[in-house]
Amino acid sequence: MKALCWHGKGDIRYDTVADPEIEHPRDAIIKVTACAICGSDLHLFNGVIPTMEKGDVVGHETMGEVVEVGSGNDKLKVGDRVVVPFTIACGECYFCQRGFYSGCERSNPNAAQAAKLWGHSPAGLFGYSHLLGGYPGGQAEYLRVPFADVGPIKVPDGLSDEQVLFLSDIFPTGYMAAEFCDLKGGETVAIWGCGPVGQFAIRSAFLLGAERVIAIDTVPERLALAKEAGAETIDFMTNDVYERIQDMTEGRGADACIDAVGTEPETRASLDSIYDRLKVAAYLGTDRPHVLRQAIHCCRNFGTVSVVGVYGGFLDKIPFGSAINRGLTFRMAQTPVQHYLPHLLSLIEEEKIDPSFVITHRAGLEDGPDLYKKFRDKEDGCIKVVLKPNGAAA
Ligand SMILES: NC(=O)c1ccc[n+]([C@@H]2O[C@H](COP(=O)([O-])OP(=O)(O)OC[C@H]3O[C@@H](n4cnc5c(N)ncnc54)[C@H](O)[C@@H]3O)[C@@H](O)[C@H]2O)c1
Ligand SMILES: [Zn+2]
Ligand SMILES: [Zn+2]
Repeated sequence: MKALCWHGKGDIRYDTVADPEIEHPRDAIIKVTACAICGSDLHLFNGVIPTMEKGDVVGHETMGEVVEVGSGNDKLKVGDRVVVPFTIACGECYFCQRGFYSGCERSNPNAAQAAKLWGHSPAGLFGYSHLLGGYPGGQAEYLRVPFADVGPIKVPDGLSDEQVLFLSDIFPTGYMAAEFCDLKGGETVAIWGCGPVGQFAIRSAFLLGAERVIAIDTVPERLALAKEAGAETIDFMTNDVYERIQDMTEGRGADACIDAVGTEPETRASLDSIYDRLKVAAYLGTDRPHVLRQAIHCCRNFGTVSVVGVYGGFLDKIPFGSAINRGLTFRMAQTPVQHYLPHLLSLIEEEKIDPSFVITHRAGLEDGPDLYKKFRDKEDGCIKVVLKPNGAAA
């Protein structure tokens, strides 16, 4: 089959690889009808995620049609149309039982390696390094889905692929980011990053009762899309973000601050982000947490800092003193996607949100390598790419 494979920094290729096969009775094989490129894939593309190997199939936002079902899987049948969560979860362990699917303790075969770095291992993820399981990803014509009686959600025929595809990751992630803010109604939420995740966080914050959303980015079309949703915007390259948020909140700070940027912010944004860049380049640091620092400073006393932008290692110069002295709450996670699916599917069915608003580029899988570059460099107004394998793009 054809698939997008990682071959090193800046090097994604459209390769021919072996077709996936059922390896366990609970597996299913999906013929992919649509998949997307995520900001998390850019961390792979930029070479900042360790334990990738040449030839690894990437991609973790995938949907399609079930073409084969393992003998022990009585939830799915051939022909079902499903969206596959990026987090792989067994559904039975201590964490899955509590709804913490992205903490599944049975889905990462390389858990010991992850535990060495992080103390304990999270769940395995599709197409996201050997540290997180070494599972082939879903930017491919076919995908093997482990624990396929737990993860995939069946979607009704009345909804198009483009309306439901983002249930695999960015819609639940943006929603979780806003849910973490524990909104009661009337709050001001500041959101760093108007990429796809930030866009869903903005809309989810309004759905959950925020009165004002302040959206921060520098890319004009991303700020414009945030405005369309009702957000007030700040361009971080031409404004002092802290001063602007102070002005907008009577000097108190935002009730909640969401980091939807993570470890690869714009280097030129500030002195500390230049300093982070140099440290990481010299192997003296693992991450570039400029946005997290700023989000903490801009949060009001006893407010919440919600982190969904991804970080990998040991974050330097985090103003923890500010956080403890002012009573901040921190919430963060790789999204336990399965936990959110029934509710978010119902929001789409009730037309409270149409997730396809974020798509700017549609193409066949063979155009993937080019579109990784376009998405990374924000060329041609690129905000979100959907790839259609198996000739479905035509
Ligand atoms: N927690 C999860 O489960 C989960 C799931 C999906 C994605 N993510 C992470 O969320 C993050 C965003 O993903 P995305 O798909 O929206 O990616 P993206 O790269 O398209 O978006 C990031 C945005 O941040 C903006 N930005 C850069 N520096 C900034 C700064 N200093 N202040 C404000 N904005 C700044 C960029 O211009 C860009 O628009 C990534 O780190 C990704 O790995 C996490
Ligand atoms: Zn993702
Ligand atoms: Zn589990």
